Amino acid sequence: MNDPLSQFGTRLAYAASQLPRLAWYAGHEIVLRRLAAKARRPGESARPPVQSSAPVPAQRRIYADMLALLQKDVANIEAGIYPLPNDHDGSLLTRLYRSRLFFADLPAVHRRRERNEFREVLSEKTRRRRPDYYLQNFHFQSGGWMSDDSADRYDTQVEVLFTGTANAMRRQALPQLFELFAGRDQRSLRLVDIGCGTGRFLDAVKQVWPRLPSLGLDLSEAYIRHARRHLRRWARIDLLVANAEAIPAPNNSVDAVTSIFMVHELPPQVRRVVVKECARVLKPGGRLILLDSLQRGDEPAYDGLLERFPQNYHEPYYRSYVDEDFPAIARQHGLTHRRNVKTFVSKVMVFDKFAS
Ligand SMILES: C[S@@+](CC[C@H](N)C(=O)[O-])C[C@H]1O[C@@H](n2cnc3c(N)ncnc32)[C@H](O)[C@@H]1O
Repeated sequence: MNDPLSQFGTRLAYAASQLPRLAWYAGHEIVLRRLAAKARRPGESARPPVQSSAPVPAQRRIYADMLALLQKDVANIEAGIYPLPNDHDGSLLTRLYRSRLFFADLPAVHRRRERNEFREVLSEKTRRRRPDYYLQNFHFQSGGWMSDDSADRYDTQVEVLFTGTANAMRRQALPQLFELFAGRDQRSLRLVDIGCGTGRFLDAVKQVWPRLPSLGLDLSEAYIRHARRHLRRWARIDLLVANAEAIPAPNNSVDAVTSIFMVHELPPQVRRVVVKECARVLKPGGRLILLDSLQRGDEPAYDGLLERFPQNYHEPYYRSYVDEDFPAIARQHGLTHRRNVKTFVSKVMVFDKFAS
């Protein structure tokens, strides 16, 4: 793996798969900005910006950090932690279909953003079936988490937000699993991914450990349906509609629990219940990995961006998330904070359960 020729080959193959992807989503971002500018009628301004003196990173800094993420991704491949990734984005037709869904939803997103409307998914029917905090149009998107169109649109939305780097960020949780699983028979281990959404992280996990018994759970029937379709190439994987506040697994039965881009969407009291639940199902010696947004102070140059984010994308619990003390919550439930690894605008938080 380390001889210069194979290193060159890896980098070439990586560039060939990732650069067109970045360009695809960067192109969406450019069109999105133009449409947003056009959508504002003459004289009409966007909602007043958040008043904040916190710094916002220059575009150059954002590009440099994005590049650092991609370099880390390549370094992990070269170190043998994971293979050259396959993003499984689907055929051109599939991608065009998802782009159409994404662009078609923008006028409705714009209207909700301007009017600050986010409760369309709350009805007498849904109220009985899901917790109240969940029944919101997160990101101002149509259907909230509750429709098939929302599930089919989600990955385009997230990749556009991160200019095509969302999967690369998700992969930064894999070295923490690699360390935990080293030298062990994957068939004897258990992994649970809570709030698995459309299953993109589980796809990355399976590319490294295809025989690892894995469970993905999510409160959305539509997202689980999408994940089942997306992950059908893999064996030893279960996908269930379930609440992360009550993980369907016995005490001390799981080696690793992962959560990607979910905890910032939970109210503070629910975050505590979820961490407690993760601690319950983990075996002694097991590991909890939370991958989510940077928090305030992690990268001071980004603090202003963290303050503005929840205004543009309906993220009702984000402001409490950026100041949340996760090591303290974890400690209360017998989990030790091992480390944080920053990765572009997100970070990986690693907690271990004492092996007593
Ligand atoms: C921002 S998405 C992240 C999805 C995915 N992990 C990813 O990598 O993109 C948040 C997901 O968490 C799910 N979710 C939110 N609250 C949940 C809960 N209490 N239990 C299970 N899933 C939940 C939502 O349905 C949604 O799919």
